[in-house]
Amino acid sequence: MTETRGAIIVGASSGIGEALARKLADEGYEIGLAARRTERMRRIGSELPTKSYVATMDVTDTDDAREGFFELAGAMPSVDLVVVSAGVADANYDLEWERERRTVDVNVRGFVAIATAAMEYFEETPDHASERDGHLVGISSVAAHFGNGGTQAYNASKAFVSTYLEGLRERQTGSDADVTITTIEPGFVDTDLSYGSFWECSPETAAAGIARAIRKERDHAYVTRRWRLIAWAFDLLPDRLVRRVL
Ligand SMILES: NC(=O)c1ccc[n+]([C@@H]2O[C@H](COP(=O)([O-])OP(=O)(O)OC[C@H]3O[C@@H](n4cnc5c(N)ncnc54)[C@H](OP(=O)(O)O)[C@@H]3O)[C@@H](O)[C@H]2O)c1
Repeated sequence: MTETRGAIIVGASSGIGEALARKLADEGYEIGLAARRTERMRRIGSELPTKSYVATMDVTDTDDAREGFFELAGAMPSVDLVVVSAGVADANYDLEWERERRTVDVNVRGFVAIATAAMEYFEETPDHASERDGHLVGISSVAAHFGNGGTQAYNASKAFVSTYLEGLRERQTGSDADVTITTIEPGFVDTDLSYGSFWECSPETAAAGIARAIRKERDHAYVTRRWRLIAWAFDLLPDRLVRRVL
């Protein structure tokens, strides 16, 4: 008998997280949905073909969010996959402190609160349906590769997410636990958060790319794949040249 696989998605109430919840449920995962908007998650959960679980949490309330994560994981028969998609993006040209702080709170503090809870869960809970001990996926951004006026806090927060996940992957070397760590760097995806101007894909297309990276246990994936060109351009070419061309 095949055991049920379970996935927790933090930031599942809209956009990429919602589309990924639907995609993974279609692939047979039971889904734990977490975010602040409870009613939206209940509705999404009721539309999934597999069993769903809902946890209301604000990741900036880190102790409460971690407690909520462990309660949600405990309520599910198996949690093999955790996706941290919760994030905010704010164009803050005036450098208002509260708005910069909010971005750092959600995208950095909130991200680490859940990522560490997921690792703790995977490292301490041996009975999973898959052969490995777990799979942590973080939704970063191509924005991690460059600074940008206005969204300076957002781009920096995503650089933090990508580098943090790289560190967790490196930490796996020599670790007793077999946890796969995947970094997803989307370009523009058509959600409420997006400032998209070109190469924008639908949340469903993004979810399909992320699900593929999960199946293949990738370390890293760009979504859609052509966004690697932008990341590579910023990584390899003189900054001024890339900005002039773009
Ligand atoms: N859209 C793009 O173009 C794009 C590109 C690159 C990367 N990304 C990344 O993709 C991720 C998902 O964004 P999206 O585009 O799908 O936007 P979205 O539709 O606005 O989704 C953001 C999700 O994060 C949750 N969230 C925000 N603040 C939260 C908090 N304090 N506590 C708990 N959950 C919180 C939201 O739920 P509640 O409001 O219900 O709490 C929602 O589920 C983000 O990390 C974003 O940086 C997006």
